[in-house]
Amino acid sequence: MQEIWKKIDAHAKQWTKEAGGLLVSSLKDSLLIETKSNASDLVTNMDRQIEQFFIEKIQSTYPNHRVLGEEGYGDDITSSDGTVWLIDPIDGTMNFVHQKRNFAISIGVYHDGVGKIGLVYDPVHDELYHALEGEGAYCNGIEIPKLEPGSVSEGVVAVNATWLTENRRLDHRKMAELVRRARGTRSYGCAALEIVYVATGRLDAYITPRLSPWDFGGGAVIVQEAGGIITTFAGEPLGLVGQSSVLVAKPGVYEQVIEYVKG
Ligand code: IPD
Ligand code: CA
Ligand code: CA
Ligand code: CA
Repeated sequence: MQEIWKKIDAHAKQWTKEAGGLLVSSLKDSLLIETKSNASDLVTNMDRQIEQFFIEKIQSTYPNHRVLGEEGYGDDITSSDGTVWLIDPIDGTMNFVHQKRNFAISIGVYHDGVGKIGLVYDPVHDELYHALEGEGAYCNGIEIPKLEPGSVSEGVVAVNATWLTENRRLDHRKMAELVRRARGTRSYGCAALEIVYVATGRLDAYITPRLSPWDFGGGAVIVQEAGGIITTFAGEPLGLVGQSSVLVAKPGVYEQVIEYVKG
């Protein structure tokens, strides 16, 4: 059975590298930038092109698989049955547009709701984070050591900027306490990278009140294979349908941070 996932993983890696190359070469071109739900919700011609690139590859190679992609070129997914690809063609579109770095391609392949393959590719730094269920987490083929338990007071916590503005899922007083207790805080604006940074120990925790399955699908497989924990703020497993709050952390830090966000 595992052989099937290895074959799919090899295809997914090849396509992700190719797509990353397209993104890097597009950085010198002028982009077509549009807005979606509000003035800060950006989409570019490259978000659309990369999602379509993956969908064509998947549909012609694995016609029975379904695809959930952010830009809506995939299938209408209302259940996690069968094999589902979760695709974020550019996670961190604002960074792609404004910074030309700190963005990633995120791919998660799930079977009956179980994460089998996770890929997060930072093409500017040529860092491909990858994991197959049960086989450990890797960056560019080098195994990421299993996370050791830590604590908030010796940890760096990444926060989504919405923790500063009104948000029904976060208590500002508790957030201020968490920030005071932590050694430091960061905000990268790219959920997929923030999740894999917890896997590598660049971050010790990341909290964000609302993500979609394509944002965390790839990173969740990777960080769990590295020994990290990823759940909703209520401590529940993340679902593949609809949006979720997300807390991801190394052991020890997770148990401390959930006290600030569980409501
Ligand atoms: C966004 C980024 C951002 C996170 C947002 C996501 P996008 O993804 O991951 O860091 O705070 O919630 O929607 O739109 O750039 O793919
Ligand atoms: Ca987006
Ligand atoms: Ca995203
Ligand atoms: Ca995106």
